[in-house]
Amino acid sequence: TLYPALAAIAAYLVGSLAFAVIVSRAMGLSDPRTFGSRNPGATNVLRSGSKAAAIVTLLLDAFKGLVPVLLVRIYGKRWGLEDGTVAMVAVGAFLGHLYPVFFRFKGGKGVATFIGAVFGIHWLLGIATGLTWLIIAFFFRYSSLASLVSAVFAPVYFLLGDRVAWYAEAPVVMALVAMAALLGWRHRENIKRLLAGTESRLGAKKRA
Ligand code: G3P
Repeated sequence: TLYPALAAIAAYLVGSLAFAVIVSRAMGLSDPRTFGSRNPGATNVLRSGSKAAAIVTLLLDAFKGLVPVLLVRIYGKRWGLEDGTVAMVAVGAFLGHLYPVFFRFKGGKGVATFIGAVFGIHWLLGIATGLTWLIIAFFFRYSSLASLVSAVFAPVYFLLGDRVAWYAEAPVVMALVAMAALLGWRHRENIKRLLAGTESRLGAKKRA
């Protein structure tokens, strides 16, 4: 059946909606690809000074990961879609955010979409991963560091919760590991800045 592939393509198209760009445009703010880290993501939208735009971007980019996963989990059975398709739509939406077909394949770093997908896989896994982000961000004030640490921990939590809170199906484990690895790769400039001590802290509004 072609359904898993079609579902993954649909998720990729949804993931390709770069909400940092769309929301900024709709709210009359400058394009996030032109200032700060130049990344089309909620963190960089926050550097424009609009908390509201950053929160809307975060939520919409997270929904791109959450909705495809939930749709497959809730309605997939009657179409014969299994855990492999859950994994495929999660990765599809995530790849859409990183390499969006509607934005010349220049997308973001995947953090919000990853966390959205993780919430779709299991709400408790989402809470654990989201709390990890918040705790690291609160103590260290680096969005990128919080993102990297939570991406590393998400697959670890998923394996730890196996048979206690959920079943860690192999395709979903592989999807989480693959997304975490790609997320790390997309943060390579942030990692260099973190090591050099030049990464911008949350709350610091920096232009250009
Ligand atoms: O959401 C991406 C975040 O981890 C880092 O964003 O703009 O500081 O590179 P940015």
